[in-house]
Amino acid sequence: MQKVLALAGSPRKRGNSDLLLDEVLKALTNQDVPTEKIYLCDLNIGGCIHCDYCYVHDKCSINDDMSVLYGKLRETNYLLFASPLFFLSMPSQAKAVIDRCQLFWSMKYIQHKKVAENTSPRRGIFIGVAGQKSRHLFDGIKATMKYVFDALDMEYYDNFLVNNTDSKGEVTQMAEVLREAHELGEKIAAEIKAQG
Ligand SMILES: Cc1cc2nc3c(=O)[nH]c(=O)nc-3n(C[C@H](O)[C@H](O)[C@H](O)COP(=O)(O)O)c2cc1C
Repeated sequence: MQKVLALAGSPRKRGNSDLLLDEVLKALTNQDVPTEKIYLCDLNIGGCIHCDYCYVHDKCSINDDMSVLYGKLRETNYLLFASPLFFLSMPSQAKAVIDRCQLFWSMKYIQHKKVAENTSPRRGIFIGVAGQKSRHLFDGIKATMKYVFDALDMEYYDNFLVNNTDSKGEVTQMAEVLREAHELGEKIAAEIKAQG
């Protein structure tokens, strides 16, 4: 069965985006779907230096923990990317990963090569949390995720966005939100199981 890759983008472990991600993962695990969760803040990943090495090679010039993620991102058909909003964008640990996905953008649009070998549909799901209330908070980060999922040859399959949530672990008090996160996991599990 296909494995779901989950990237936790917040530097605050057991924070809101992390807990929502866990709720989705719990639903997947309950349905026996294999998952792998990685805390990006535990990895040593530097920013893209725009050296353009990836315009002519299938790899990045920087040798760090992104090398491991590159393989996982190419293999997975389901990516859960969880992040809080930091200055209307994302924490630098998560943004470094996004920028290093320039490798995939180059493979796709400059080298015209396949990003993923397997032919099953690839799907990206974004889980976002923000402290403020405005309805337009997530416009920028959604555009970023659309762009990176496209570089990864993934459909921007779904969003799970929660605003007005600031204190660490506040989502544990939001029964409805947790239920909806669980349902998202169940939906993904049902699809994966249908694909066999
Ligand atoms: C450096 C920093 C920048 C932030 N910028 C924003 C912001 O631009 N808009 C917003 O709504 N919340 C902002 N927040 C609040 C977080 O998005 C919010 O606390 C969220 O619940 C954190 O999620 P986490 O627990 O998963 O880390 C910011 C928090 C920090 C620490």
